Amino acid sequence: MATDKEKYSHTPTATDNVWGVGLKDVKRQSKCTARLDVAQSVTGLILGIFLFCHMAFTGSVNFGKDLFANLIATSGGVWLDGADHAWMHVVFVGFIFLCVIVHMFCALRRFPTSYKQLHDIRSHVKLVHHEDTTLWWVQLITAFCLFFLVFPHLMSMLVNPHGFDPNLIGVHTYHNGLLYTFIFLVCTELHGMIGLYRLAVKWDIFAKNPETKIMDQRAGSERAGLRKGMLIVALLMIVGGSITMWTNYSIGAEQIANNAEAQRYEMSEGASWYNHAK
Ligand code: HEM
Repeated sequence: MATDKEKYSHTPTATDNVWGVGLKDVKRQSKCTARLDVAQSVTGLILGIFLFCHMAFTGSVNFGKDLFANLIATSGGVWLDGADHAWMHVVFVGFIFLCVIVHMFCALRRFPTSYKQLHDIRSHVKLVHHEDTTLWWVQLITAFCLFFLVFPHLMSMLVNPHGFDPNLIGVHTYHNGLLYTFIFLVCTELHGMIGLYRLAVKWDIFAKNPETKIMDQRAGSERAGLRKGMLIVALLMIVGGSITMWTNYSIGAEQIANNAEAQRYEMSEGASWYNHAK
């Protein structure tokens, strides 16, 4: 039996711990955890990049209904034969849905499963008092909210692909209300942008040097700069999304005031990008 002297002869430094010094000799139980982690990262990356495309797509309505209608027509394959193919919307929304489900299942194992665990995490965040740990806490809270918010959003498009229309989307936003949409927007952008930042940290896009004190990278480092940049991008996304939300809400309010709740948008003469389009 090892004596205390032998057991405690080497106290690992912070750098040893972070770099997992000695871990290569540890018996590995299963590769499953590592695979789940990669799956979570890959789907997270796809969804994070998708959020920028999503913002460009939905934000197009701010430049006019014609532009938005043309983008919807593009994703519906009107360029093929002049008809809108609902199945194309379904395939695209279905792919994003699948990414969300895989991402969520992989993330579930990180969720606290009792009040005690939640309390421990909270105490840990307070104790460590480091920006990255706090961001992780924000990830957890926004993930919990998104669990309730993202499925109604995706399901409504998956089962009703014909609802892709500038007027109908406006009416939908009007009925959802500004508060609900804003909470959804804030949770989405914070979760997505913090997620991309965490991926960058985790998959080592910084040239880390084990010889330097990597626990002390708080200030003045590239990482602090990236963190600030990420929060600025998240803020810009929230501002941009709020403008889009307001435009959609106003379109919806106007349709309802005109008793035209179910009236689809007709593109103005010559506005269609596709000659044979309706
Ligand atoms: C292919 C999948 C998706 C499509 C086609 C799509 C499309 C749309 C459309 C047309 C709107 C406008 C208003 C509305 O209908 O509520 C919207 C709003 C919104 N979407 Fe999505 N979405 C998709 C996936 C997602 C995902 C995965 C998230 C979040 C994780 C998300 C977050 C939001 C948020 C927060 C809003 C409200 C913000 C705003 O109006 O600016 N969407 N989406």
